[in-house]
Amino acid sequence: MKFIITKDYEEMSRKAANIFAAQIIAKPDSVLGLATGSTPIGTYDRLADLCAQGDIDFSKISSFNLDEYCGLSPEHDQSYRYFMNQHLFSRVNIRMEETHVPNGLADDMEKEGLAYDAMIREYGGIDLQILGIGNTGHIGFNEPDDAFPTSTHKVELAQKTIEANSRFFNSIDEVPKYAITMGMLSIMNAKKIILVANGKGKADILYESCFGPVTPKVPASILQLHPDVTIVADKDAASVMLEKVPELL
Ligand code: GLP
Repeated sequence: MKFIITKDYEEMSRKAANIFAAQIIAKPDSVLGLATGSTPIGTYDRLADLCAQGDIDFSKISSFNLDEYCGLSPEHDQSYRYFMNQHLFSRVNIRMEETHVPNGLADDMEKEGLAYDAMIREYGGIDLQILGIGNTGHIGFNEPDDAFPTSTHKVELAQKTIEANSRFFNSIDEVPKYAITMGMLSIMNAKKIILVANGKGKADILYESCFGPVTPKVPASILQLHPDVTIVADKDAASVMLEKVPELL
């Protein structure tokens, strides 16, 4: 694992966007793995700016998102398809038909998951995957479990996740209880991964994920086994790591 520790959210977003920009410049037809949540919004803002300035070009890019809530349509303002259109896709010159988000309305989630993974394989796998991290240590929506989930699959959200994500809904009762998420196979097969984290609330789980035991009880800990992971964290999110592993600075 490599660590980039930044002074604040702004710098975290800039550094993460720079890694994306380098990827897009080096390989204009890259397959990008994309994430939602509040953490990557600043990264997407920077990428939109770089595209508007003509520094990066999304015309040959394709993308696969990590996850989607079950039961929300693409038009629902809390669906992850809506989020991606709003924060990135409508602001860059990506071909909409080359943007993929799991279908949260699919009748058969198992079939949808297998088809999603097959499509990722057809595209040659993900070149660069961005991840956030949930309070439970989830990546995508892979919640703590007895084993690491492999394929894209339907998942029951942890109560802690429902509570954390309720801030985006009118009430906690509106938060979907299920989601469809990429599993660990497509994530771990990505050639390069960056994980972004900011704020004190992520400090303990980030330390556990990077330096604790590799266990499905802390889903992000699997990243320790990937050969090319960069953690881009602001100093608050990195605070427990810096206290316990001061060599990181
Ligand atoms: C959601 C997403 C995750 C994301 C997490 C953290 O539950 N499914 O991909 O990493 O929230 O969100 P935030 O960045 O808002 O803390």
